[in-house]
Amino acid sequence: MFNIKIITTSSIFHFFCLSLWKDLFIMEKKLITIAIDGFSSSGKSTMAKVLAKNIGYAYIDTGAMYRAVTLYCLNNNLIDGDTVNTETLEKVMPSIEVSFSVDPATGASLTMLNGENVEHEIRDMRVSNKVSIVAAIPFVRRALVNLQQKMGESKGIVMDGRDIGTVVFPKAEMKVYVDAPAETRAQRRFDELRAKGDTSTTYEEVLENVKHRDHLDQTREESPLRKAEDAISLDNSKMTRDEQNQWLLDLYHSIVSQQ
Ligand code: DC
Repeated sequence: MFNIKIITTSSIFHFFCLSLWKDLFIMEKKLITIAIDGFSSSGKSTMAKVLAKNIGYAYIDTGAMYRAVTLYCLNNNLIDGDTVNTETLEKVMPSIEVSFSVDPATGASLTMLNGENVEHEIRDMRVSNKVSIVAAIPFVRRALVNLQQKMGESKGIVMDGRDIGTVVFPKAEMKVYVDAPAETRAQRRFDELRAKGDTSTTYEEVLENVKHRDHLDQTREESPLRKAEDAISLDNSKMTRDEQNQWLLDLYHSIVSQQ
């Protein structure tokens, strides 16, 4: 009786370890890379963030990285009109540190520039108006793409931007290309600015900025915004936030189940 009990206990323990190992193995095997690209203010960051939270993946907003470098340029007088002092920027680029940390109070992701929290500043129109020029500079893109590839090398990541499915992770298992008319996107960005207390920027200014950035993002020579051939398109202009989040989650489950 005593022996049987020992065998039973050890068998249960064995079985438990085996199934745990199997679960871990399956989880490991199913970690994927998720690339979400699209136009500015298409709502991709919001969707990407919710998806990452739901599935326990890391989330990286690559637009925030280009914005942080732009803020550095503005703060250091490296931008004059639409001209960037690329000679100086290239020299200091290795010392510009862009990273992310988590707000302990809210759990929100914070963009850090040389160790300083710049999450709010990088969303200002001052930065929005210049970021496309900085994002078009080849050595800036090379440095940030490098960093993004390192951040995602262990998979289990949701990354959003313009070139994630085409350049950063061309082999990503899940690629989504989010699109919506410029007017819809401008209205979203305008509402966000108002909610943050910006009462001076008009809707027309935001629309002009959105259209201008669309043009620059699509026509730049280095990694222009384009849909990867194997990306799935989503026009979310008539979807609620919940519908978008569900659509993305369903897509994730269907892709993972086929891995
Ligand atoms: O997503 P966003 O609006 O915060 O992006 C800011 C700018 O950065 C946008 O004009 C395009 C650029 N960008 C880019 O060129 N490549 C990325 N992967 C992400 C953003």
